[in-house]
Amino acid sequence: MQSHDRRDRLIVQSTDSLEGVIDISGAKNSVLKIMAATLLAEGEYKLHNVPRITDVDLMIELLCAVGCEVAWADTSPATLIITVPADINPVAPYEIVEKFRASIVLLGPMLGRCGEARVALPGGDDFGPRPIDMHLHGLKQMGAHIKVVHGNIEAATKGLFGVRTTLDFPSVGATENLLMAAVAAEGVTVIDNAAREPEISDLCKFLTAMGASINGVGSSTLEIQGTTAQHRALQATDHTVIPDRVEVATYLIALGITRGDLTITRARYGHIMLLVQKLSDMGMRIRSDGDSIRATSVGRLKSVDCATLPYPGLATDYKPFLVALLATASGVSIVTENLFAGRFRYIDELRRMGADIHTDSHHAVVRGVDRLSGAPVKAHDIRAGAALAVAGLGAKGTTMISDAHHIARGYEDIVGKLCGVGARISSD
Ligand code: EPU
Repeated sequence: MQSHDRRDRLIVQSTDSLEGVIDISGAKNSVLKIMAATLLAEGEYKLHNVPRITDVDLMIELLCAVGCEVAWADTSPATLIITVPADINPVAPYEIVEKFRASIVLLGPMLGRCGEARVALPGGDDFGPRPIDMHLHGLKQMGAHIKVVHGNIEAATKGLFGVRTTLDFPSVGATENLLMAAVAAEGVTVIDNAAREPEISDLCKFLTAMGASINGVGSSTLEIQGTTAQHRALQATDHTVIPDRVEVATYLIALGITRGDLTITRARYGHIMLLVQKLSDMGMRIRSDGDSIRATSVGRLKSVDCATLPYPGLATDYKPFLVALLATASGVSIVTENLFAGRFRYIDELRRMGADIHTDSHHAVVRGVDRLSGAPVKAHDIRAGAALAVAGLGAKGTTMISDAHHIARGYEDIVGKLCGVGARISSD
């Protein structure tokens, strides 16, 4: 089994090319929600292909705080065994919630199962405010009474009921919370303008295996048949988590920066189509090969414009790596962020490495330079940290990334995987 890599500094040296095979882990943004969904029914769950990352450990802590027993099976990729008791204590304490925002997805399943829930309000993120108004509005429509007291969201209901609701924006978290609440509600819920990310389809697959009835999976209209107040129809199940498409994007872009030839295994090509198109437009060659992706990169890549959008648009989570790649492409690119207006902070770090990037509101103008130069830089969040690591591979000299614990929140053994294909990177 892979070991966690939690040392707080990464040292990255200039790397000429990446060659070989990288195995992709299970998707962080899928498994965290599936772990939350286990609270909907008592019993033993076996989740396969679970990434060994810090955010999963934090979700384990939350499940244990609620009353579950959680154990790792000695398998590779890892299997997590979650035993949910007949009675749970629907409280997500601040000490754990403040460490990671995904804990907000406990609200829907805890409220649905217990008729009450208390979840500490998550704070802001390093890339700007992250409101949860759509989560709360939808739950209120379904019959929840919600107040915020002493920094906690306190929700109670005499029984959730199905409604037709339209999200202002296809929020991933709001779609997931409402979906999990709807499964435990009386009657039919329709969520319009739902998010369509593959991780939501994975959650739907898991809920369906538990006995839920969901129509429109993968579309922007989800229709959920509730499973009655006693949730008699729901039961514990086993599930294999989908591969992490953001991890795939990270290694493809690392290849674009260093050049070389990679086979990326246990990946889903169909989940990254627009990214493949952008990288191909820049000059990389990428093709699907069963459940692997084969990619080659030779010579200097060309600039390309990008705008982030909800799936199937270009994921905001790819953007820090794309900006790092465009920083040394030939030409000028305009990168537009449409999801998190403040998600540009890592650009100051890239500038320390010699990148020529000008930001204006939610746009970045990236003028490609021949080469970045290694520097001491800081990881402000998971994706920003990974972007600095891949940028460092192409930079002259040594890049030292502090606060690297952020990277371990979302990447299983990034150092081992990159070293395995020839990267010069180590933790300190
Ligand atoms: N928004 C609201 N009100 C809400 C909910 C969202 O205004 O009630 C806004 C947000 O402020 C943001 C936009 O809607 O501007 C999109 O937010 P969304 O709810 O879709 O994002 P999220 O559920 O908080 C998940 C991922 C993020 C990923 C985004 C977008 C998890 C745990 N997190 O966040 O992943 O960037 O979707 O795809 O699933 C990461 O993995 O590093 C990461 C940050």
